[in-house]
Amino acid sequence: MSKKYNVKNIKRKKDHLSIHWSDNHKSKFHFLWLRDNCPSAIHRTANMRVFNLLTVSKNIFPKKLVHKKNKIKIYWSELNHESNFDTKWLRDHCYSLRSSNKYKSSYSFWDQKLKKNFRKIKIDHDKILNNDRYLKKWLHILNEYGFALIKKSPTKKKSAFKILNKISHHRETFFGTPFEVINIPKPNNTAYTADALRNHTDLPYFEYAPGYQFLHCLINDAKGGNSSVVDGFAVSNYLRKKEKKIFKILTTTHVKFKDTDYTQKAIRVLYSPLITLTKDNDFNDIRFNMAAMGIIDIDSSKMKKFYEAYQIFAKLLHSNKFKIDFRLKAGDIFCFNNRRVLHGRTAFDPKSGNRHLQGYYLERDEILARLNYFNNLKV
Ligand code: OGA
Ligand code: ZN
Repeated sequence: MSKKYNVKNIKRKKDHLSIHWSDNHKSKFHFLWLRDNCPSAIHRTANMRVFNLLTVSKNIFPKKLVHKKNKIKIYWSELNHESNFDTKWLRDHCYSLRSSNKYKSSYSFWDQKLKKNFRKIKIDHDKILNNDRYLKKWLHILNEYGFALIKKSPTKKKSAFKILNKISHHRETFFGTPFEVINIPKPNNTAYTADALRNHTDLPYFEYAPGYQFLHCLINDAKGGNSSVVDGFAVSNYLRKKEKKIFKILTTTHVKFKDTDYTQKAIRVLYSPLITLTKDNDFNDIRFNMAAMGIIDIDSSKMKKFYEAYQIFAKLLHSNKFKIDFRLKAGDIFCFNNRRVLHGRTAFDPKSGNRHLQGYYLERDEILARLNYFNNLKV
């Protein structure tokens, strides 16, 4: 076993054990933390903690400590309990180390130059279906770039369920699954017209907007109807670096998104900034949808500046520097992180031919959880 797992010495301090390892690293393990993480505290099959923190006091301490080879035995001051720890487990869970690990984003930002490298984000349908190596690759692409293009998939209706279910179950919405992206009379959504759609994220009026979207192209024979895609995180990162004031406004102003679909007996309203950040200051999500923006009712002293920032963001999200134009072919599945990447289309002429996409949503949790599984993440 590597040197780092060997204990040089252990000291019992006032409220923690101090372990000095052979590689000279020192760890602190607080008593309550140790008691809470006693191996016997975890259910053997359910892998969940059965120990109840309320059964001990905050003053619990090791009455006695025995260190033999790779094991440390603790006799606790309360409940007559003994804990047996592997030193390797302790070292692997040293929280001074874990908490000091610098956050590293798993995202690669991209702009229109990615078009020359489309092979990076393309992947064949049957390879994913038949080989977990490709399923893992697909998940990696989705997580890193937020955008993948599946090629050579069947064009039978509803056939994309099969490949999505390689990840997990889908996210249901009132549009149904799959939702039919076709030109219909009396459309309840602008997606169901033959009109152009400006770059947008879907369903921004949901507190938890769908994490991923999959547009499965069954037919694309009409004139027009070309697609666009843009990395909202890359644009936000540009603003963060070059336009600090604009970035501040976009990350702090809560504006209204709404949906009043006439086929639904529901009125949906959500206030959110257009860009949100995580606890590590990484990008969390983008909500951008001119069509689903409510009537903005922020304080009048902020309105002018907000509209300026909103317009600058919109311009960049439609600029040749950042957006990629491409055309979906029958058998393509356009997959993207709907809370990062925006999509759009040009108008099409329904008299010139047919165009039919089927849409599906799936949560970001499901992508991340499957990636963690394939990456054998230790928690
Ligand atoms: C949608 C959408 C794009 C297209 O259905 O959400 O944006 O290419 N469709 O039709
Ligand atoms: Zn859309």
